[in-house]
Amino acid sequence: LQALAARTRPDFKIGAAVALGPLTSDEDYARNLVSNFGSVTAENAMKPQFLSPQQGVYTFEEADAILAIAESKGMAVHGHTIAFTEAMPRWMQELPSGTDAERQSSATALLDYVTTVVTHFKGRLDSLDVVNEPFDVDQGTSFQQNIWYRVFGPGYPAVVSKAVYDADPDVLQFINENGADVPGRRQDALLKLALDTNGLGGHIYGVGLQAHVYDLKTDAISAGDLTDTLNNFENAGLHVRISENDVTDGRGTGAQAKQYATVLATCLRSRACVSYTTWGVDDRYDWLIDDNGRLQQGHDFLFDDGQPTPAYDEMRRALGG
Ligand code: G3I
Repeated sequence: LQALAARTRPDFKIGAAVALGPLTSDEDYARNLVSNFGSVTAENAMKPQFLSPQQGVYTFEEADAILAIAESKGMAVHGHTIAFTEAMPRWMQELPSGTDAERQSSATALLDYVTTVVTHFKGRLDSLDVVNEPFDVDQGTSFQQNIWYRVFGPGYPAVVSKAVYDADPDVLQFINENGADVPGRRQDALLKLALDTNGLGGHIYGVGLQAHVYDLKTDAISAGDLTDTLNNFENAGLHVRISENDVTDGRGTGAQAKQYATVLATCLRSRACVSYTTWGVDDRYDWLIDDNGRLQQGHDFLFDDGQPTPAYDEMRRALGG
């Protein structure tokens, strides 16, 4: 897939979310990854809960191992993620924020985290989600009131962005959000947040549009809507990554395959869209797997048990392969 895309867009990256376990233990997974993708995102290994289980304690081993493998294969690495409500260690969630003095000491602890992590990875990440899913999980447009918000206020993305820039000025910074893939209030809010953040001295290069499609009836993404979306961000001077695309409805059907291909092909046609990432490699390690350790039916991702799925074939066709 990466080679086909590079014929028309040499700098464009097609990526996948990965985990260290299958990368090191499953030859099919590793082979399919390396021969199709030009970029990786650690599905979990670079989240704060995994990088710093206790305050001041850092566990970089798993993230470093993923980085080393990606580098040895000439793949780009996208960092995921710094400020993310859902993936914080307990110590970070529980930092006090009631008084000015508490907010000040918590600010120091949070900024220490940012500086330590970004300095550790300096020069090795191409891009980074500095803020992930800032808005309400109910698909609204107000901020999740997490520790970053409580300590730094509504300008927290700019604070994080500046700290990231100070530690690594070259990493391309993104704000990553779900439910903003088609025009609407949530997309407007994301666009405004990116611009406001830069207005406050931040260094946001663009936005990540996750493009999770869980229901083809209610959240299918059409080429027209996605084109309008990409134009909206381009007109605002921002870039876009399709950051976590997966289609978990219509498993293995032509409708699912077409949805995957539409998102990729539409992104590829837009100058503003710099990369496309799918949120997994093989259904064997699907993050939506059930208690029996298997998908009940069909396929979610581009590979299943090492074999390409109909979605993979449709993606290839969309790329002229
Ligand atoms: O590795 C630990 C294990 O040691 C522990 O015993 C076990 C007990 O809960 O948890 C394991 O960690 C789990 C981790 O996945 C690795 O399997 C976490 O609990 C679980 O919360 C985590 O889920 C991840 C989720 O984000 C939450 O961070 C999913 O794998 C991951 O696919 C999902 O990805 C998110 C993106 O980061 C942001 N956008 C939405 C996307 C899908 O929800």
